[in-house]
Amino acid sequence: MSRAYAWWQREIIYQIYPRSFQDSNGDGVGDLRGILSRVDYLTSLNVGAIWLSPIYPSPMHDFGYDVADYCAIDPRFGTMADFNELLVEIHRRGMRLIVDLVPNHTSDEHPWFVESRRDGDNAKSDWYIWRDPAPGGGLPNNWLSHFGGPAWTFDERRGQYYMHQFARQQPELNHRNPEVFEALLEVMRFWLDRGVDGFRVDVISLLLKDPLFRDEPPNPAWDGVRQYASLRHIHTGNLPEVHGLIRRMRALLDSRDARMMVGEVYLPNAELMRFYGGPEAPECHLPFNFQLISTPWQAGEVRAKVDAYEAALPPGAWPNWVLGNHDQHRLATRVGLAQARVATMLLLTLRGTPTCYYGDEIGLRDVALPPECWRDPVAINQPQIAHLLGRDPERTPMQWDSSANAGFAAAGVLPWLPVAGDHRTVNVAAESADPQSILSFFRALTALRRTEPALSVGAYRSIDAGTDDVFAYLRSDGGRCLLVALNFADEQTKPVLPEWLGRRGELVLSTRNGRSPTVGLDRLELAANEGILVRLPVADAGTRRRLSP
Ligand code: GLC
Repeated sequence: MSRAYAWWQREIIYQIYPRSFQDSNGDGVGDLRGILSRVDYLTSLNVGAIWLSPIYPSPMHDFGYDVADYCAIDPRFGTMADFNELLVEIHRRGMRLIVDLVPNHTSDEHPWFVESRRDGDNAKSDWYIWRDPAPGGGLPNNWLSHFGGPAWTFDERRGQYYMHQFARQQPELNHRNPEVFEALLEVMRFWLDRGVDGFRVDVISLLLKDPLFRDEPPNPAWDGVRQYASLRHIHTGNLPEVHGLIRRMRALLDSRDARMMVGEVYLPNAELMRFYGGPEAPECHLPFNFQLISTPWQAGEVRAKVDAYEAALPPGAWPNWVLGNHDQHRLATRVGLAQARVATMLLLTLRGTPTCYYGDEIGLRDVALPPECWRDPVAINQPQIAHLLGRDPERTPMQWDSSANAGFAAAGVLPWLPVAGDHRTVNVAAESADPQSILSFFRALTALRRTEPALSVGAYRSIDAGTDDVFAYLRSDGGRCLLVALNFADEQTKPVLPEWLGRRGELVLSTRNGRSPTVGLDRLELAANEGILVRLPVADAGTRRRLSP
């Protein structure tokens, strides 16, 4: 088709957690030169954009999400020269680079906060959210931190509390102060001038809080497990005024060529869609769509979620899908190894931009860690629920080969998190040599997505498959049409597809080997945990009409 699509609509985004990708200098922590040495691997995945989690100077209480300088590189990751070189190499291979922007909070070591906490009367005294103790002493209100405990820490010098929804070393900026927001726009300009293609904006929905600092109401649906969930966070997140700020960020991006932002928003459809903004006042190019991460892994449930999301998208809004990131248990752990390929096929064949988390393409799983190995404040602050919420298990080093440190770091180096025990078989080298590996499957599918517009930009519609085990849908563009049929069950199944699809199709790809090239749609059988991609002959006008959304 002749429609023009932007790179962030057509391409796959691949997230790198820099600490865990490749160590080049023997300190056990991944770095930019390490990523540079793996750029050809990125090319081989047929992904079009790389998102780097934070690489800025940081005391690393939250592993870079506590930023001490927005416009520099942490020496553990390298130098600005390394960054520039990486950007050049990524661009030279036709890929794009998205950097993480953390506007909600800084590190308590950021010079802005150091100045702000000095006294109540300095140029930056109002750059953070400071409150007096409650009249009788104690916390200003009942707000809680995502990482456990109250959202307030007392500062002796100012005799006041500062607010933080994450670690106490992550004080929240006061974006109601126009100077603060202008400083953030300046940070964006700094990176845009360096040539980055976009931003992944951390907790974008939390940027503003209730100016009256009212208590949050209890959550009647609380399950008693995670303290943070005991309240309904109506005063600390998703305030309507936040959209005004996001529109200004978007206007800045629109003043440059082909740049984008993807916002981190964990909200249900109705609220999520507002983060696209409207035609006159656009906001995020993509507000992350995380719903498949929390949906029970069952065909009917997944279909319902996909269809509801598609139906809720405002006109012109571009969909996107995520199955993993550095805050969520690994995909292959959540759905099981047998279903990991089905999940990958789903992620890469739904309509919209997929984001893939490093290592999911080789089937990395959560690594269970003993308490002495925990690094994540979420686990350390809440040991009793660390097994549920701790994020170290999904951040372990990338597995490149079968050597002692899996090729992530030189032999003898102690990686910052342990390498998984399965690295002798689950690694890039072994899987590249095996045409039946999940990595080979991933590459085949991403290569196909590149050449098949029906998959990258085509229309979507789900179809009834006559069984609860199968989620089936069509992707079509112009005269081309593909059927995707995914068996979520661990047993063979016989979907019953609508007759108007025709009787035969041509197999394009299956999650398993040995399928014959012609697929009988009228007597289709799917093996346990099998997903297939089938090209349909779109013969007559009647069928075409049914296929068009
Ligand atoms: C986001 C990040 C997470 C971090 C938090 C605070 O949710 O993805 O890793 O801990 O923000 O910055």
